[in-house]
Amino acid sequence: MKSLNFSVMLSIFLIVSCSSSYALSDVSTSSSNGKLYECICQNSDYCVPFSTAFVTPTNDSFNTILQSTAQNLRCLLPSVTKPQLIFTPMTESHVQAAVICSKQLGLQLRVRSGGHDYEGLSYMSDMESPFIILDLSKLRDIVVNTVDNYAWAQAGATVGEVYYRISEKSKTHGFPAGLCTSLGIGGHITGGAYGTMMRKYGLGVDNVVDARIVDANGRILDRQSMGEDLFWAIRGGGGASFGIILSWKLKLVPVPSIVTVFTVPKTLDQNATNILYKWQQVAADKLDEDLFIRVIINVAADKKGEKTIQTAYNSMFLGRADRLLQIMNDVFPELGLTHKDCTEMSWIKSIMYIAGYPSNTPPEVLLQGKSLFKNYFKAKSDFVKEPIPIDGLEGLWKRLMEEDSPLVIWNPYGGMMAKISESETPFPHRKGIIYMIQYLTLWNDPSKESATKHYDWIRRLYNYMTPYVSMFPREAYVNYRDLDIGMNKNESSSFIEASVWGNKYYKDNFNRLVKVKTKVDPENFFLHEQSIPTLPITMKGKSVNHFEM
Ligand SMILES: Cc1cc2nc3c(=O)[nH]c(=O)nc-3n(C[C@H](O)[C@H](O)[C@H](O)COP(=O)(O)OP(=O)(O)OC[C@H]3O[C@@H](n4cnc5c(N)ncnc54)[C@H](O)[C@@H]3O)c2cc1C
Ligand SMILES: *[C@@H]1O[C@H](CO)[C@@H](O)[C@H](O)[C@H]1NC(C)=O
Ligand SMILES: *[C@@H]1O[C@H](CO)[C@@H](O)[C@H](O)[C@H]1NC(C)=O
Ligand SMILES: *[C@@H]1O[C@H](CO)[C@@H](O)[C@H](O)[C@H]1NC(C)=O
Repeated sequence: MKSLNFSVMLSIFLIVSCSSSYALSDVSTSSSNGKLYECICQNSDYCVPFSTAFVTPTNDSFNTILQSTAQNLRCLLPSVTKPQLIFTPMTESHVQAAVICSKQLGLQLRVRSGGHDYEGLSYMSDMESPFIILDLSKLRDIVVNTVDNYAWAQAGATVGEVYYRISEKSKTHGFPAGLCTSLGIGGHITGGAYGTMMRKYGLGVDNVVDARIVDANGRILDRQSMGEDLFWAIRGGGGASFGIILSWKLKLVPVPSIVTVFTVPKTLDQNATNILYKWQQVAADKLDEDLFIRVIINVAADKKGEKTIQTAYNSMFLGRADRLLQIMNDVFPELGLTHKDCTEMSWIKSIMYIAGYPSNTPPEVLLQGKSLFKNYFKAKSDFVKEPIPIDGLEGLWKRLMEEDSPLVIWNPYGGMMAKISESETPFPHRKGIIYMIQYLTLWNDPSKESATKHYDWIRRLYNYMTPYVSMFPREAYVNYRDLDIGMNKNESSSFIEASVWGNKYYKDNFNRLVKVKTKVDPENFFLHEQSIPTLPITMKGKSVNHFEM
């Protein structure tokens, strides 16, 4: 009782001390938001005025802020449940307070760094209790040290900003993470993080050496204080299951001062099918680790203006054009690469090239952290272990031709990816994988019919691909989150479904992730549609199933 009185008094004191800017009108619409504000004020080092860090649906800026980094328009439709509040922390202690207070008030917390989640899980929720968004966009400091070869990057920074800050200090240092520059480093690294240097240096997670997180009790932990089990789990075990990443310590890797890029398109009348068949045989195993050639497949018009399949070979090579041409002539002459196709440039320019910026865009644009495009989309992923035969490819072409705006991206593995064991990090797709497929369908029409049509198409395509891709389990990339493969929503089937997506995303590592989760977050505070479940399986702290490992 005594402590209760004390905390009530303290909160009154804090409200009064913030009162000059504490606009009651803003929060009176929802007493829950008022209580949250008081609690956060009380539990953090720095009590900001309500209007600078808290936005409720009644504020005119609410939609702008909600939409700011949200990448999938499908998850912003009016029919989608909106948060009760968006809180943009200014300090690490605000993040701690957000955990403590949402727990106290029974609110669900959604954490957003770069907003690129494929199913919008960082800014929407289909689960029952009201939710708030913790938007880390103001925590984006980056410190680069090229003497000791590391960078500390706060979660809200984009990968483009990280790359820029590294290149600002040195032309011969880089970091191997995503190709799209608007990804948030916070969420991106939690699932793996692949990019053009993965065949040489592995994934983002393979190059993380420390992290600062806020755990389910609101404590700040680093690698030493969290211990190796939890440090293992956060490097690939998926976002928002174990804690909130405040910052990552990244190990920088060497890059040459000049690299080479090319993009060579081949349509069906240019022998695309045979050339792709050959790519499958060389891309992972036979090509030099300095070379990354992905294939971007879509429907385009050929020279006669007729609909065709286009396969574009989009590449970055850690070296100069002469050596690249030698390698290509030896191993993959079918592509017919010439000097004319190749452009030499600095590593940071290659980042912009691969991300799709028009040439001559100054790298400073990366500091804006903006994405180049947004649309409605649905995606899925697969991993391939044996080349797909010609007739399999032809069946794929037929299906792509039936869709309005399909996009399929093939991403080569091998090299370093095959040298790291499956259990080194929770990301298990390593040796034996020759490439990863990402299927996307994009659209611009907000209607439900339109979404249904595109969902149907991609599900049929996924079904068609079954015989050609990994099985037992059919593996999937957690950063290409796909709610089709099981949800935590249905309490009675939650564990069965969790083990379905768990095995696809993590293979045998799923068991260890469940154990770590049970130890560090037994009440299952960090909960979302595909968060790692605890043992026994609980929903919001309520036991629904007893499962023995
Ligand atoms: C256009 C586009 C291009 C992409 N390109 C690549 C690519 O080249 N390589 C690749 O590997 N992936 C790529 N991805 C996938 C990308 O890695 C994932 O979508 C990733 O989760 C994005 O991280 P984010 O911080 O931007 O997203 P968010 O939506 O903010 O977060 C994603 C998930 O992580 C959680 N989360 C966010 N921040 C934190 C935090 N600080 N601590 C704990 N959990 C957190 C969220 O709650 C959510 O569940 C791409 C995605 C898109 C949309
Ligand atoms: C709405 O939110 C914005 C951005 O946080 C803030 O500047 C503004 O003061 C808020 N408006 C009201 C009426 O509280
Ligand atoms: C198409 O590619 C195949 C296999 O690489 C090759 O044998 C064939 O000669 C090529 N055909 C044409 C017309 O270039
Ligand atoms: C939940 O899952 C159980 C078991 O799979 C199933 O019988 C039930 O119909 C599901 N309920 C809903 C609402 O989907």
